[in-house]
Amino acid sequence: MPPARRFPEGFIWGAATASYQIEGAVEEDGRGPSIWDVFSHTPGLVRDGDTGDVACDHYHRWAADLDLVAELGLGAYRFSIAWPRVIPDGDGAINDRGLDFYDRLVDGLLERGIRPVPTLYHWDLPQALEDRGGWPERSTADAFGRYVQAVVDRLGDRVPQWITLNEPWVSAFIGYGNGRHAPGRRDLHDALLASHHLLLAHAHAMPILRTTRSEVGVTLNVSHVVPATGGPADRYAAGVADQQVNGWFADPILRGRYPDRMATWYGSLLDGIVRDGDLEAISAPIDFVGLNYYVRTHVRAVPGEASTSDPMDALPYRAEVPDGVPTTAMGWPVEPDGLSDFLVGFSAAHPSTPILITENGSAWEDRVAADGSVADPDRIAYLESHLAAVHESMATGVDVRGYFAWSLLDNFEWAEGYGKRFGIVHVDYRTQRRTLKASGRRYAEIARQNGL
Ligand code: FCB
Repeated sequence: MPPARRFPEGFIWGAATASYQIEGAVEEDGRGPSIWDVFSHTPGLVRDGDTGDVACDHYHRWAADLDLVAELGLGAYRFSIAWPRVIPDGDGAINDRGLDFYDRLVDGLLERGIRPVPTLYHWDLPQALEDRGGWPERSTADAFGRYVQAVVDRLGDRVPQWITLNEPWVSAFIGYGNGRHAPGRRDLHDALLASHHLLLAHAHAMPILRTTRSEVGVTLNVSHVVPATGGPADRYAAGVADQQVNGWFADPILRGRYPDRMATWYGSLLDGIVRDGDLEAISAPIDFVGLNYYVRTHVRAVPGEASTSDPMDALPYRAEVPDGVPTTAMGWPVEPDGLSDFLVGFSAAHPSTPILITENGSAWEDRVAADGSVADPDRIAYLESHLAAVHESMATGVDVRGYFAWSLLDNFEWAEGYGKRFGIVHVDYRTQRRTLKASGRRYAEIARQNGL
């Protein structure tokens, strides 16, 4: 039977990963420590004391992993390049052995007919830069420019599509705001400094990437934000939350300004952060925006509490999961129409920017059956319903060019360690054996049919 929902010819079907989550080999070939090495080795910060020391051992098993992508019939693979492999101390000497790894990876993908889509920064800042102040320091953005130049000098002739940053909102507000991610600092002012310098890092990368013939974009985490009730306070709070989560990075990049309501709310915390010319550079045209979508956010107004141990509590709202909505193993509500609603709204606000869904997926309590198979009907249902939502938005004119499942492999899920599995391929961390889950088979079928 032909699929009921067909995607346009040339639609990109891919899978995504990130360096620290899969590579392991943290001391190999000259790699320097990243903030995630230090954070995960600090007792009590990552569930069960898990670290990325070995992860999926992808650094050694990359060829077999690329074979898996090929077997799935996917046209694209989104991975990230580890800055601490390329410039181990952040802005000193270039480490050729680190670049060699990504050189092999890119060639390995091209040989298999798979488009390499590297992200230049997926959260593994060299620890040496954090020791000098990290993202709250403006000079970290300059160091990023040097790193990007080194990568482009080596790979710029073979990469068709670049992503500068992954989810800078999470780097800034979870890394420096509430400290649940590396480097684990808790200060709203630092988070705002970090967010502006991440934007500046993106800005510094743009002219370097424009010396190639490739397309360039950035990946942002987004959520469909709705008020918990119809009351005016919750509706107002949802507007603030929408600007905080969805607007804080998208507006500077796509409109050349910070969202007003949120900028007013932060007030004097922003003083002195933005310099003349910054927003012009930050809003240089991009070819596509990558959107990572997982959940809808239901927002309730609360009085901000400046005094608690979590500086993010100063924000005048809280997110909650409504009763009766099914949730994943992360406790995230499953509401696929949030994705279509979000895409329609985003595309109305930014009509000329093509969209790539650079991450979407779900974690479940997977079980390996006695025969070794992994049946994961919940992940299949999540995948199908979210792809249907993407398709529905496209039918109304939203320009989505591709979809990357998060994730190719079960992997190190940051502060949740290995307990949360997002892969369409199961990884047995004891043996490093990979097993295609039922969802992986289903995704391969959808990609092959270009529809569902
Ligand atoms: C995103 C991250 C990705 C992964 C998923 C579940 O925020 O970009 O690395 O952890 O969430």
